[in-house]
Amino acid sequence: MMELKTAASIDAMREAGRVVARALTAVREAAAVGTSLLELDAIAHDVLRAARAGSPFLGYRPHFAPTPYPAVLCTSVNDAIVHGVPDGYRLRDGDLLSLDFGAELGGWVGDSAVSTIVGRPRPEDVRLVKTAERALEAGIAAAVVGNRIGDIAHAVGTVCREAGYGIPDGFGGHGVGRRMHEDPAVPNEGRPGRGVPLRAGMVLAIEPMVIAGGRDGYHTAPDGWTLRTDDGSRAAHAEHTVAITERGPRILTAL
Ligand code: MF3
Ligand code: CO
Repeated sequence: MMELKTAASIDAMREAGRVVARALTAVREAAAVGTSLLELDAIAHDVLRAARAGSPFLGYRPHFAPTPYPAVLCTSVNDAIVHGVPDGYRLRDGDLLSLDFGAELGGWVGDSAVSTIVGRPRPEDVRLVKTAERALEAGIAAAVVGNRIGDIAHAVGTVCREAGYGIPDGFGGHGVGRRMHEDPAVPNEGRPGRGVPLRAGMVLAIEPMVIAGGRDGYHTAPDGWTLRTDDGSRAAHAEHTVAITERGPRILTAL
């Protein structure tokens, strides 16, 4: 399903997106050495409750998942790429933590992710995180009327490959609206000028993932959710929900 959103709907999605941004900011500030991943999930849950918003993650069960998702937040540490399930693990100095969060407000969903480094950062991790952010910026800049999905995919993929990183294929961005995952798929690599034409009113979650080792291989951990790199190298993830408008891309999940 691909529903074009009216200006009023996009404004309503912005309110859902603001809740997402507030939660990610709160969680990121709390992510210090010694904090557990379950504590971070509880902080995100508190933000939802205060906003009277729902969670599109909790209980979610996509085709690849063996069990409903048990939390409101994804916490992916080091070699975990995405969909890390919060548990009692306590963060350690230098951990690379990717946080992915969604909120549902007024019937609309916002979806966003950030990567952060706990304690003293390693330079190679800083470069990895910055590359995911730059890839996201490039993807957003390509999210304009007249372009196609392939232009976003190409913009994202080029930044990641030029930095020498791997890209896990099979996972990427997506349309977002009344539901978290709508058409079209927004791959993190692709050919310019191909795919669905971008139209005003489309809302997309653009979400580059980069693997430090330079290879693309990944696997699902025994929990059935966490995606881990095959080579054990670290991964970073960045995501925004973005509306395509006649006046250019509008980020809905910023503060
Ligand atoms: N941003 C992630 C995605 O689009 C959200 C996953 S939610 C989960 O895949 F519930 F599946 F964890
Ligand atoms: Co997403």
